[in-house]
Amino acid sequence: MANLIPEEKVDQVRSAVNIADFVGQYVQLKKAGKNLFGLCPFHEERTPSFSVNEQKQIFHCFSCGRGGNVFSFIMDLENLSFPEAVVKVADFGHIDLPATYTAQSQPATPKDQEQADLLTLYADSTKLYQHVLLNTTAGEAALDYLHQRGLDDETIKTFGIGFAPPKQLLLDFFKEHQIDYQLLRQSGLFIENQAGELRDRFVDRVLFPIKDASGRVIAFSGRILKKSPDEPKYLNSPETKLFNKRSVLFNFDLARGAIRQRKSVVLFEGFMDVIAAYRAGIQNGVASMGTSLTNEQIYMLERVTDQLYICYDSDMPGQKATDRALKLLSGNSRLKLGVLQMPDGMDPDEYLRSAGAEKFVQVFEAGKQTPTAFEMQYLRRDLNLQNTQDQLTYIGAVLQQLSALSSNVEQDLYLNQLVQEFGLDKEDLRQQLRSLVGQQTVHRQPHGGPPTPPPPVNMTPPPPTITGMAPENGPISRVERAERLLLFRLLHDHDVWLRVMAIAGFHFVHDQYQQILVYAEAYFKTHQQFELANFTDFMGDQGLQPVVTSLEFMDVAGETSKEEVADLVNVIMNQQPVAEKINGKKAELTAAKQLGNRDLVQQLTLELIELYRQAQRVQQADNL
Ligand code: UTP
Ligand code: MN
Repeated sequence: MANLIPEEKVDQVRSAVNIADFVGQYVQLKKAGKNLFGLCPFHEERTPSFSVNEQKQIFHCFSCGRGGNVFSFIMDLENLSFPEAVVKVADFGHIDLPATYTAQSQPATPKDQEQADLLTLYADSTKLYQHVLLNTTAGEAALDYLHQRGLDDETIKTFGIGFAPPKQLLLDFFKEHQIDYQLLRQSGLFIENQAGELRDRFVDRVLFPIKDASGRVIAFSGRILKKSPDEPKYLNSPETKLFNKRSVLFNFDLARGAIRQRKSVVLFEGFMDVIAAYRAGIQNGVASMGTSLTNEQIYMLERVTDQLYICYDSDMPGQKATDRALKLLSGNSRLKLGVLQMPDGMDPDEYLRSAGAEKFVQVFEAGKQTPTAFEMQYLRRDLNLQNTQDQLTYIGAVLQQLSALSSNVEQDLYLNQLVQEFGLDKEDLRQQLRSLVGQQTVHRQPHGGPPTPPPPVNMTPPPPTITGMAPENGPISRVERAERLLLFRLLHDHDVWLRVMAIAGFHFVHDQYQQILVYAEAYFKTHQQFELANFTDFMGDQGLQPVVTSLEFMDVAGETSKEEVADLVNVIMNQQPVAEKINGKKAELTAAKQLGNRDLVQQLTLELIELYRQAQRVQQADNL
């Protein structure tokens, strides 16, 4: 795609925004050696192989091979065009771009046209539904309802809340605008009958837009105004090309900044709870889509924080759900866990309305429970602790719980509580606990997960493949090793550049390195200094960016020498004659055949076989 934003402007944006800060919105980065490491946002992984080099302002994943600068990062992650990426990064850095650039690049242009059309459909529906809510008589009842629930118009706008009136709205609107029938069918906004006729899926419901991580509406959840036994309270969009409910968290887009700031995320049960908390200034809240947390959602959260608080309803179903979530999370993630409970069996939204913002916020500041404290309380739910039998059951269950804790101090703390509550002997309890720990050594999975393993420091990058995207983890050939090192030297040391480019007929064996060389030649015509983050933009070629970036993550000596360069050139050039001779020999052979010179054909064939042998030997040597 043509880059319509001038290079100076692009440079200005790139140099004003530190890639570590920008990427840090999506990936939790930790310093290790001279680089920062984190879990790669492009694939699922448990140990960090995603690395950011702040000095060079580039990123690289040692596992999937992706790499580039801040723009390629967000282009890859969110499927954006280059100008869109520049606008997004500029936004983050509070850099004003002239309206002309932003106007050109504002409309989302994901590579997939159908996806883009669906996004537009959802964006238009959101506007329309909100218009009905705020500006029409059809929306009055719904607006009253929301106001009664404590939502002011500003909050309604922040969350894009709307209203689907009792009679059809969208179908006529989109028909008028001549939107393609197939697109409407796939949108999930309609229900189709046997005859293939569509009607609005959402009628007479308050609509909460569900947005993706970049804040684009991809689905709706509609709440009924008055509870009815025949209809679900909330009706969600079906899964579509845009919407996969397993990998969406309500409010993740708005919460991300606050999650980073507060270094924690709060997981709520319902949308209304998230919105209530947001109003009270607790803006790091998200909710899963009415189901228990999925692995995909856990991955999303792990990338932006290491502390998660569960704040479900404090009624019995909410407590059960909390217990389930703690068990799921402690077994599946490295997140540190905590529990927040509203008083008196209320859900957060109810508590905020009944007690006011100040008390509500207090729960978040002072009411944090450890998972163990929560479990101890939860264990009591069906027990009568006046009864000795129940007491024993309880103590046994608590000890079981404590045996999974990795911290002795924490164990001690809760043992003391048992001692106090039941007047027991601490040494007895400790002994029982020890025997339980003994049984458990094999699969100890403490709440809060094991300590984070330190990220790898001295990793050598696996080579990229010829296509440059997904490196195989196999060994890299001697020639390719030489090519990578020489290319690195060529780009960074202009003396080397001048010397090597003066060698007649020099070229790389592997196409991708040769292509980069050609780009570099053009680049040096207009740029004095080589700057990688700028060069990747210059190339534009998405396939080559990770290749050139991966060079920067090689472990190479700072200085080069004439000998080193000469050796590298030799290794690379010597690879060529065999291949070239083979081609020449083949041409000769064809000519000899055409002339019908049988002796020559025989001789050339033997020579050709010998050349193939040579090539094979070189290949074998390469693989040593
Ligand atoms: P709740 O019933 O706790 O929602 O369901 P809530 O937030 O308290 O709703 P209000 O306050 O009555 O408006 C929690 C979540 O479960 C999902 C929704 O995602 C909801 O936010 N849910 C609930 C459904 O998907 N369908 C339903 O019928 C009910
Ligand atoms: Mn509620």
